[in-house]
Parts: sequence; C-alpha cells; structure tokens
Amino acid sequence: MVKIIEAKNVGYIYQSKYQKTKALTEVSCSFEQGRVYAITGKSGSGKSTFLSLLAGLDVPTEGNLYIDGKDIREIDRDAYRMNRASVIYQAFHLFPLLTVLENVMFPMQLQHISKKEVKNRAQEFLAKVGLPDNLYGKMPNMISGGEQQRVAIARAMSSGGQILLADEPTGNLDSQNESVIVELLCKLAHEENYAVIVVTHNEKVAEAADVVYGMLDGALEVVRG
Ligand SMILES: Nc1ncnc2c1ncn2[C@@H]1O[C@H](COP(=O)(O)OP(=O)(O)OP(=O)(O)O)[C@@H](O)[C@H]1O
Ligand SMILES: [Mg+2]
Repeated sequence: MVKIIEAKNVGYIYQSKYQKTKALTEVSCSFEQGRVYAITGKSGSGKSTFLSLLAGLDVPTEGNLYIDGKDIREIDRDAYRMNRASVIYQAFHLFPLLTVLENVMFPMQLQHISKKEVKNRAQEFLAKVGLPDNLYGKMPNMISGGEQQRVAIARAMSSGGQILLADEPTGNLDSQNESVIVELLCKLAHEENYAVIVVTHNEKVAEAADVVYGMLDGALEVVRG
C-alpha cells in the first residue's frame, strides 16, 4: 500500500507574543488509503493540532510532513485542501442557509463542472451516505444531528479528495447515530478506498479503526497497528 501521508519527526509550536506552547513533539507515523485511523489521547495532548497539519491548514514548525512523497511546504496547500483532503467536525459546520443538496453541491461548484453534473453527483454522494431523498431540500436545522453529519460527510466526499479527516465526528451524537457514522467511515475506507483519520475520545470509534495512534503530551505512539 502506498503511504499517502507520512510524518517524520513533526513538531509544532504555537507562538504568541508572550508565550510558546509546544503542542507536537517528534511525531512520526504514516497513513495509507483504504484504512481507518483513530487518534486518541487526553484533552490538550495535541490531536487537533496534528489534524490541522494533516489538513494543510498550517505547516510543521519542525520535521517534515509528506503528502504523496512531497513535503507539504512545497505543495499548493490551497489545492490540497480543495481537492484532496476534507475535514468534518463535531459540530457538523454545514452552511445554514443552504439546503442539504446545496451544501453537498457547494464544493463542486468551485470546480469546472456543469450545474447538472454537480447536482447528479451531489445526489449520488447523499445516496452513498444513506440519506433519504425527501431530506435533500431541507435546511440543516430541520434534520437530526446524525443526518447533518452524514450531509457533512457527503460534502467532504464531493470535494473529490480521498483523505477524510474528522475531529470528534460523533461527539454530538447519541449512540445509535454514532454507530451509523462509524459504519459509514469504515465503508468509505474499505469500499471507497479513502484514508480516514479520526480524532476521537470514543471507544467505539477506536475499536472500529484499523490502526489506533495515541497522543500523550504532543508525542504519538502506536496503540494498535
Ligand atoms: N491556537 C492556539 N494557540 C496557542 N496554544 C494552543 C492553540 N491551540 C491549542 N493550543 C495548545 O496546544 C496544545 C494541544 O492542543 P490541541 O487542541 O491540539 O489538543 P487536543 O488533543 O485536540 O485537545 P481536545 O481533546 O481538548 O480537543 C494544548 O496545550 C493547547 O492549549
Ligand atoms: Mg481537539
């Protein structure tokens, strides 16, 4: 399997005028397509910081992060974020004034695809995440949390990238919806060949993952490989 992402001795320091916080220390690990990775660890251990580097929102202050073998400092990070990697969050972050279907169409409208094709593909993604089609015209606040997270996943898929990053994706969900999302994330990895990387406190998510990494004070270890 090809290593789509590889971290080598990655460090990250938050620096403000008065204080420095070392959030990541010598993090080395890799990620392949077709697998689900869980990143676990206590609050403040550096999980979200690492995820934001994987998402290309920032670059390491030390060490190297390679995407398809290229240092992330040398690639077009905007293009990476637009076409390769998508992030979903605990709070779903859907556009409140767009319908379910329009939310999923949105990333594709930034690409050169005809409106009709955009709509067809958005409907396909919504079907893949198992959302009933009577919900496509609803506004996000009219559907349940579990449904909103499925829309967020469909929107992430619509960007076309095969790296799905998730920060506590089940944090706002009850256990039944949690299971639906966990199953969906596994399906994306195992059937659609995504690299799925999930930051989580949740045991069920970690159990379902193929690989579990643990973070402790900014350092990462393999819990289960
Ligand atoms: N924007 C920031 N500026 C300065 N320090 C920060 C910033 N964001 C996070 N930190 C610090 O970096 C460290 C790692 O934070 P991070 O958010 O990555 O932890 P986390 O593992 O995601 O925690 P949680 O489980 O609570 O979400 C913490 O000490 C935190 O206080
Ligand atoms: Mg966090």
